[in-house]
Amino acid sequence: MVKKEVLDKISDYYTDKILEHGATPEGVDWNGEESQNKRFEQTSKIIGTKGKFSILDIGCGYGAYFNVLKENYSNFEYTGFDISKEMIESAKSLHTAEDANWIMNLEKGVKYDYVVSSGIFNVRLEETKESWLDFVDSQLQIHDQYSTKGFSCNFLTSYSDSHKMRDYLHYEEPFRVFDICKKVYSKDVAILHDYGLYEFTLIVRK
Ligand SMILES: C[S@@+](CC[C@H](N)C(=O)[O-])C[C@H]1O[C@@H](n2cnc3c(N)ncnc32)[C@H](O)[C@@H]1O
Repeated sequence: MVKKEVLDKISDYYTDKILEHGATPEGVDWNGEESQNKRFEQTSKIIGTKGKFSILDIGCGYGAYFNVLKENYSNFEYTGFDISKEMIESAKSLHTAEDANWIMNLEKGVKYDYVVSSGIFNVRLEETKESWLDFVDSQLQIHDQYSTKGFSCNFLTSYSDSHKMRDYLHYEEPFRVFDICKKVYSKDVAILHDYGLYEFTLIVRK
């Protein structure tokens, strides 16, 4: 389990990004809108309906995914959760007139049809690989605990070219998380590793 001090460091890392770059892909440490949207397209594959649904976005940043959902779905309840206060303030100020919830703490017992996250597993800073794996596993449990119909999330892949890999980033082994989800969370699990980034998306359908 990752300690609060570590989450604080992660939060500070992302807070610095948004303070430097504003509400832009670079402000959440992505290198552009095209790949940011490509990730949303993949994580959205968990949504199995055009009808009404509720969704929790863990690590929502400034709320870019909310805009994507609005373009594609008409009837949903969205909750964005982030550990960085500046991210949540930015999301709130960008979406003042809209019907979305922006939170900094998860409320026990509340359930959502779907839980998604994009980019929360990548930056591990000085945490050891072992403790970060515990963190990944505990976050998967949270994705499961808060969702009734399924969850999706993404990872940098261990199949990245080694000369491009960085020490402070976490590269997950697709089979490791596939195996955990298949054994613990659901029989219906998919790994999408075919969209041209050094990443993959995990889809767990319940
Ligand atoms: C790479 S950014 C992506 C933001 C957004 N999902 C997007 O794609 O535009 C990751 C975000 O997740 C937040 N974050 C990181 N770890 C988190 C955690 N364990 N729980 C909630 N938020 C987290 C960070 O503060 C940051 O805003």
